[in-house]
Amino acid sequence: MNTATKQAPSRTQKQSALTLGQWLEQAEQNMLNGILANISPPDGKPGAVVASPSQSNPDYYYHWTRDSARTMGEIVRLHKLNAFGMLAQFEQLMSDYIDFSLLNQKTPNPSGHVGEPKFYANGDAFEGEWGRPQNDGPAQRALTLTRWAQHLLSEGQEVTVRDVFYGIDAGLIKTDLEFTANHWLDRCFDVWEEVEGEHFYTRMIQHAALREGAELAAELGDDGAASFYHQQADAIEAAMDAFWSEENSYYLATLNRASGLDYKSSGLDIAALLGVFQALSTSSSYLTATDDRVLSTAYALYQAFDDLFPVNNIRTSPAGEVLAPGIGRYPEDRYSGTDGVETGNPWFLCTGAMAGICYQAVLLFTQLERIQVTPRNIPFLQLAVSYTSSDDRLSEGEYAKGDDTFRAVISGLTALGDASLRRIQLHCGEKDAMSEQFHYQSGEMLSADNLTWSDVNVLNCIGLRKQISAA
Ligand code: NOJ
Ligand code: NOJ
Repeated sequence: MNTATKQAPSRTQKQSALTLGQWLEQAEQNMLNGILANISPPDGKPGAVVASPSQSNPDYYYHWTRDSARTMGEIVRLHKLNAFGMLAQFEQLMSDYIDFSLLNQKTPNPSGHVGEPKFYANGDAFEGEWGRPQNDGPAQRALTLTRWAQHLLSEGQEVTVRDVFYGIDAGLIKTDLEFTANHWLDRCFDVWEEVEGEHFYTRMIQHAALREGAELAAELGDDGAASFYHQQADAIEAAMDAFWSEENSYYLATLNRASGLDYKSSGLDIAALLGVFQALSTSSSYLTATDDRVLSTAYALYQAFDDLFPVNNIRTSPAGEVLAPGIGRYPEDRYSGTDGVETGNPWFLCTGAMAGICYQAVLLFTQLERIQVTPRNIPFLQLAVSYTSSDDRLSEGEYAKGDDTFRAVISGLTALGDASLRRIQLHCGEKDAMSEQFHYQSGEMLSADNLTWSDVNVLNCIGLRKQISAA
């Protein structure tokens, strides 16, 4: 009965027993469903995106500016690909999101500006104590809406774009870009809402938003704004080098810390990779996954989390494929949905960031048609190659497409990305409904359930994986 092994998996087959290839086919639809379930909730306004349906332990039933912009950015990407055949629904969601964002911008809030991190799903300001402002938010929103505006322009809808960009007074996109261009130097709270200072992650998103915003401004004839945004983006680039720690061989998450957790001491944080991953832009090649300092940071993160979480001792999936470690936010983390636990946990979002960086590196190196193996990136690239059956020892030098070493590195990075996605597959449950975290020992899901931007991030990685297969 040798045909049995060739059969397509039945619907009832445990999803963790699927190979990665089989799982990917079903996971995309499930993740999209997870995302859509959290947009425009019945008791909120159309266009609100709740971070999770969870209303206690933890309460994530809010529209976070950051999470929602990433979510709608993913909708823009899927719309562009005409994935899932849902163009009209996606357009409606974007139009609702624009209305809800306008409401957020105009709602008086404790930050006193567009850096307010979260709102109730009905649009009311959240007045409680919180780590605010978080200035990546307006930049995230500008980035998503600029991409949507580019789509509308390509459809000849310039009047609508002018309306969204400029509006009656300042306009939705322009308000966020002006804020970003004028305030990127301000200290604010980080992506994890815990530390006040200057952040690598925040700056990366601000930089991308300004570059893409400048292009759009130029297309709309707003030359003064375009050159101002480019000038500020140049200034951000010049300031980014300060985050690099030669001594540690990784990018530090935060500089000039003003307040926040005293136990967060190493500066090593997946936020650095997440920033590079989420800031990838066709308008700029500044600091991407091909940079050897970024790959050196990836190596430090991999090592730190591999050792930290016992669940990472599971190294083979039920289908017999290799697994990479689950990755958390930062090694000193003590948040598991409640504060003050002894240790943090791996997060789907963070493990996805490791996969995403590997896949982006594959696509970008392939585009460049060459790879520079350097003292900084060799540990990570060698680690990646160890995920294949090859026992190649890399040596420093420049390798062109066609060289064995080029091929080995590309296969290695793809394999490490795949092994990271399998880690997600193993812990995400039968319906691919990802919570925020999975337990550092047992691997059980925990903290906020159906976390919107877990789905968003992993769906985005799957998109990159498909691009690699199609190349
Ligand atoms: C809630 C935040 O959302 C989370 O990121 C953070 O770790 C905890 N508060 C810390 O208090
Ligand atoms: C806590 C996370 O640390 C933060 O990044 C996120 O925006 C919120 N939860 C909502 O998902």
